[in-house]
Amino acid sequence: MTSTDVPHALTVIGLGEMGSALAAAFLDGGHPTTVWNRTPRKAAALVAKGARQVSTVADAVAAGPLLVVSVKGNTAVREVLEPAGAALAGRAVLNLTDGTSAEARTTADWFTDRGAEYLHGQIMTIARPSGTRTPWCSTAAPRRCTTASAPCWSWSAAGGA
Ligand SMILES: NC(=O)c1ccc[n+]([C@@H]2O[C@H](COP(=O)([O-])OP(=O)(O)OC[C@H]3O[C@@H](n4cnc5c(N)ncnc54)[C@H](OP(=O)(O)O)[C@@H]3O)[C@@H](O)[C@H]2O)c1
Repeated sequence: MTSTDVPHALTVIGLGEMGSALAAAFLDGGHPTTVWNRTPRKAAALVAKGARQVSTVADAVAAGPLLVVSVKGNTAVREVLEPAGAALAGRAVLNLTDGTSAEARTTADWFTDRGAEYLHGQIMTIARPSGTRTPWCSTAAPRRCTTASAPCWSWSAAGGA
């Protein structure tokens, strides 16, 4: 964590190669990190590093204001978050799941309709082994962002976790 970084509680949804690398980097940066994955056993190494694992997406969304999502495809993003329902309102969602720009717009509208602040990111590097820093991603928001997502912006501007 650099001197300009401030610890922010984050929730990572999706613990594949990339989500796991991101969550590990958040933990290494001193950010309290909650994790959820469809296959729970994949969280074991992160829990050993200090992550808090939750068993439902509703609990993941309830854990804090910032959600970082990294799953396989934007249809899965929406399916995974659907059970959270109204709890998404007021949350900032940074979606780092690859897809077309049309899928990104559909997903942005889906979250915005539920009252969430949506940011779409593109990871520009490959996943690295746990414990190394994720160098950077580019992030864009379709609408003016407000306070809920400010930590996302400062995190992105600082070059990732
Ligand atoms: N790996 C990289 O170097 C890299 C680089 C740039 C961008 N990306 C992008 O990052 C995203 C994640 O990639 P990854 O490499 O982490 O993929 P991955 O290792 O294949 O993991 C996929 C993740 O998505 C979850 N998932 C897939 N379908 C799901 C569904 N229907 N419902 C709930 N969860 C589902 C998986 O859950 P389970 O564990 O339960 O299967 C797992 O957490 C992708 O969009 C990828 O294109 C990856």
